[in-house]
Amino acid sequence: MRKRVHLNFDWQYIADIDPSDIHSLAWESHASKVDIPHTNRELPYNNFDERAYQFQSAYRKQIAFEHFADASHALLRFEGVMSSCQVFFNRVLVGEHHCGYLPFEIDLLPYVKKGQDNEIIVVVDASEDPLIPPFGHVVDYLTYGGIYREVELILVSDIYVKNARIHTAPDNDNNQKVHLAIDIANPDLHDSELNLEIALCDLNDQVIHQEPVAVTLSKHHTQRIEHHFTVSDVKLWELDNPALYKLVVHLSGDTPLDTRTFRFGFRTVAFKNDGFYLNGKAVKLIGLNRHQSYPYVGYAMPQSAQARDAELMKFELGCNCVRSSHYPPSSHFLNRCDEIGLLVFNEIPGWQHIGEEPLWQQRTMDNVQGMIERDVNHPSVFIWGVRINESPDHHDLYKATNVLARQLDPSRPTGGVRCIGNSELLEDVYTYNDFSHTGNNEPLQSRRQVAGADVPYLVTEHCGHMFPTKPFDSQDRLLEQALRHARVLNKTFGHADYCGAIGWSLFDYNTHEDFGSGDRICYHGVLDMFREPKYAAAVYASQQDEMPVMELAGNMKNGDYAAGQAGALWVFTNCDSIKLFKNDRYIQTFYPDKNSFPHLPHPPVVIDDFIGDQIAVNEPFSPDDAETIRQLFSIIMRKGQDGLNLWQKAQMFWILKKNRQSIQDGVNLFLKYVGNWGDASASYRIEGYKHDQCVIKKTRSKSRKAKLNVKADQSRLQHRHTYDVTRITVQCVDEDSVVRPYANDPIQVEVSAGLELMGPDFLSLTAGRTAFWVRTRGVTGHEQVRVKSSRFGQHCIELNIELDVHISA
Ligand code: GAL
Repeated sequence: MRKRVHLNFDWQYIADIDPSDIHSLAWESHASKVDIPHTNRELPYNNFDERAYQFQSAYRKQIAFEHFADASHALLRFEGVMSSCQVFFNRVLVGEHHCGYLPFEIDLLPYVKKGQDNEIIVVVDASEDPLIPPFGHVVDYLTYGGIYREVELILVSDIYVKNARIHTAPDNDNNQKVHLAIDIANPDLHDSELNLEIALCDLNDQVIHQEPVAVTLSKHHTQRIEHHFTVSDVKLWELDNPALYKLVVHLSGDTPLDTRTFRFGFRTVAFKNDGFYLNGKAVKLIGLNRHQSYPYVGYAMPQSAQARDAELMKFELGCNCVRSSHYPPSSHFLNRCDEIGLLVFNEIPGWQHIGEEPLWQQRTMDNVQGMIERDVNHPSVFIWGVRINESPDHHDLYKATNVLARQLDPSRPTGGVRCIGNSELLEDVYTYNDFSHTGNNEPLQSRRQVAGADVPYLVTEHCGHMFPTKPFDSQDRLLEQALRHARVLNKTFGHADYCGAIGWSLFDYNTHEDFGSGDRICYHGVLDMFREPKYAAAVYASQQDEMPVMELAGNMKNGDYAAGQAGALWVFTNCDSIKLFKNDRYIQTFYPDKNSFPHLPHPPVVIDDFIGDQIAVNEPFSPDDAETIRQLFSIIMRKGQDGLNLWQKAQMFWILKKNRQSIQDGVNLFLKYVGNWGDASASYRIEGYKHDQCVIKKTRSKSRKAKLNVKADQSRLQHRHTYDVTRITVQCVDEDSVVRPYANDPIQVEVSAGLELMGPDFLSLTAGRTAFWVRTRGVTGHEQVRVKSSRFGQHCIELNIELDVHISA
């Protein structure tokens, strides 16, 4: 038998307890009702004290005896409790766990009381215990407390399938050798003859290989069954076609014992001195580091939000990889990465500090083991990070983590992210955080400089704190952040020495006082905390070819630029060319800037001429003089008022004099064609072309209107094993759908009875936008989210909630 009971709804919860009172807590009068994923305290968006969530709390749930009735073992499984916990069952301490990022299971059956409700109490300690990685010193992120990943009860027979590792490798005939290592749990130490029926299927249940394997069980708690076979004609797990398969394992004795399914993919990964190879093909790894945090609720987000982050990276940003900095992510996130073809750098929890205590280091070893055991079958995982992020060398510890990782999974390379050059390389790949780019210098150090040798080399962080950029910063700063990412990517694409570069970071994130901008946020993301893009996001998005991208990095409003001169307009695009029209008049065609960014698949386009032939056509200059004036004006646009050198000034002066015009006439000419100062009629149309077809078009007109756009990421939610969420974005836009960056209007959010708002109901737009999440409450039907504003009135979004049948205690 195998039965899963999802235990996510209706826990009783008391915050901030003294654990010595655990058996005398006034549950009935003091507890609130919560669902899991749960954050121990909802937090403000910023400007809070990180000690706000660092307390102990208690969760309680009653489980009816019937759930345990037929089982021989009842495994209570927690996917993630931050940062440590003790589990009591019927008032007996039955287990504890000391890693907030990895699952654990406790067999409850020995303590089950017949014929009555059975009580689980979990005491969660969210403090930064220096004996638990990553703690012991300051950490640049927050580790929000609570039972923040799902909980379930798994009811099994006396012998059951504990885990399986599926390792595949192509042979010379293009067949795939499949090597299985299946662990059978035998806690009651039986010795018997069993049958293991294994079936390898595609996701449509088409069987590709099936065979029985005889198992002779000896008296061990866990017995590993190794088995090999070969299959042919399977599809590989590729980035653009991530084929998945499953291994179904039936275990039986005289009666059926257990059935489990493990999903996996056929693929090889290899790091070589000249790059990274997926299935033998070179892939330049381009991605971002992801922290798993969200505004207000910290780490506590269910499946759909986790999955959406993966989709956002793959489909909106065009990344091919993500680093789960600095800990193993939710399994939901990894599952989605498997499904959509997004490679994952998975790593153990840690940040710069290595605890010298044997217990701290033992826990790090346990984390290596826990991470690999949980995630070994995810085809998306391409490397194990087995060092504490940015820690110094530690020969004994890292020798041990590498040995363990290779023993548990000989198929994947190890890496260990460091910020020091020429350190002892015990891993397969030298993985390095290169923050050397300061804007004007050459981006990225050379591999030889950092690693001291020609070894496989991957840049695991860049940019980040070197140029923190808030979504409400000036557009110059937003542009410079984007250009820094673009320069690093250009360098990465241009040199085979770099297997890839993973930027810091995907999102802004809350952090400790020691870091960030004083409001407890590190504004390092290419997206803000609400997952809304800054210009830098378009640098990534524009490198892919799946959909046209054309992001104008500037609002083209005079008053936003010194002396009213907008200068050049940078466009992050994957178009072959861009046509500019001013007041419906064709001005010029612009092409990707291959000189500055020769290696980017799609360099940005720089629009530095808003004049075209207008001076030649409208003004009384000869064609040559008109062209010279146009060129001189373009220089002023790019370099500013004093941009002309002496010779260029003389040229201008000479042309004006020759045409009997004064210097003031020249200034007026500039204001008319470039400055558009007070010009009531300047509006622009920008068209992006691919293969001579216009594939994307944007207009920038007078910004006369302001309205709210309110959108839900998904309008169909499923309340199943736990609640579901969707993000709702609110943007103030003009008639061209351009976000109005200075709209800071307050809004009020109301939700209908079947929904709950996560976070505050009064919000302000920041840089013209904000977002929030709503969750289901277990009511099926049509629900509404209303966004009200005194200026923009009321906007209503309809959501459909499905209440799936679920098994829950
Ligand atoms: C790195 C660190 C990251 C983050 C980043 C900021 O040193 O690994 O976690 O703090 O700096 O740019």
